[in-house]
Amino acid sequence: MEENFAPDVWGRFFWMEGMGRSMVKVLTVFGTRPEAIKMAPVIRALQSARSRFDVKVVVTGQHREMLDQVLDFFDIIPDHDLSIMRHGQTLTDITCGVLKGLEPILRSESPDVVLVHGDTTTTFAASLAAFYQQIAVGHVEAGLRSYDMYNPFPEEMNRRLTSSMTTFHFAPTHPAMANLAKEGVPESRIFLTGNTVIDALLEAVKGDYVFFNPVLKELDFVNERVILLTTHRRENWGLPMERIFQAVSQLVEDFPDVRVVFPVHKNPKIRELARSVLGKLPRVNLIEPPAYEEFANLMAKSHFLLTDSGGLQEEAPSLGKPVLVLRDTTERPEGVEAGTALLVGTDTQRIVDEATKLLTDGKAYAKMADSPNPYGDGQAAPRIAEILWEKRALKDL
Ligand code: UD1
Repeated sequence: MEENFAPDVWGRFFWMEGMGRSMVKVLTVFGTRPEAIKMAPVIRALQSARSRFDVKVVVTGQHREMLDQVLDFFDIIPDHDLSIMRHGQTLTDITCGVLKGLEPILRSESPDVVLVHGDTTTTFAASLAAFYQQIAVGHVEAGLRSYDMYNPFPEEMNRRLTSSMTTFHFAPTHPAMANLAKEGVPESRIFLTGNTVIDALLEAVKGDYVFFNPVLKELDFVNERVILLTTHRRENWGLPMERIFQAVSQLVEDFPDVRVVFPVHKNPKIRELARSVLGKLPRVNLIEPPAYEEFANLMAKSHFLLTDSGGLQEEAPSLGKPVLVLRDTTERPEGVEAGTALLVGTDTQRIVDEATKLLTDGKAYAKMADSPNPYGDGQAAPRIAEILWEKRALKDL
């Protein structure tokens, strides 16, 4: 349905070709830690093809410390920083901050394409800002769906709205491609790339890694089994998270060789609850969110993961780690289908039962740990760069 493109979007690309212009100007926008991790390999791939791409990096600063750590690790220096983060920020604050902040940047930089990643409110608002300037959007990690509007909230709606403004849909897996096709996106605009998270992970995990964090440095991964816990999702705030913490407390009581390490998200709501329920328990370590490299290596040395994160469901299979997913739905069914992840929700007893099975039944553990990784081969980012180059004249689509 080519008429979906506004005349300016067409014009921009035709002009490029007609004038024999040899470079594509790509502006990437991201704002939270996971977006940064997954966009970093793409920025690298684009920057390494200097004769083809002029790359500009914009961070919205939806996260601050958690984002800056990742920028440091990947040596990314943003060209623009909107610095929107406020403590207790609402979704409206984020959306308005990104929209207002991006408008003058998009006008002055005038890129050929804006690249966004995933499903955060930064992603949605940046796509909308690009759409208002009639600039093509490339969506990395496109096509994930739970088909439940409020779960995850607001991510499911963020990604659906982003899809409807996107020209280049970079789908990580076959099911993601199929979702987009089912929704009427022309096949010529959907590209199967694998997930860039694997590209990033392979760079970060090292067999001989030594931790900087004093707590992690002291951990005994030989005599203790370390369960890595992360939880931050809005739909788990309050009671569901309390039930998760009760399960953790039960597990350390039942298994004297089990230790739970919980990097606590910066959100003050999560911090208060974590401190009050888990703060004084033996063999439970509440730590600051580690830098990306530390976190990736912690995951590699852990026994299994308890998490409500989407990204970890993709990373853990590459490292052979079972994942118990603390959610009722997932937009990442590939891991569940491959057998590496299991949806356990937030019921205390269910979490305790499934974790106990992994801790006592070697066969059940091996079955999950040895399942194949359905998320990619570590070459997603160079693929995205290649596609953007090949498709620089939109009439190819
Ligand atoms: C956001 C994304 C979510 C993503 C998650 C990854 C939205 C609506 N949510 O959720 O999709 O899975 O990031 O972490 O886009 N804070 C700090 N320092 C930081 C980061 C956060 O102090 O570096 C605190 C602030 O008080 C902030 C709060 O955490 O107000 C929540 O951050 P926010 O980005 O609004 O939501 P997340 O739960 O992080």
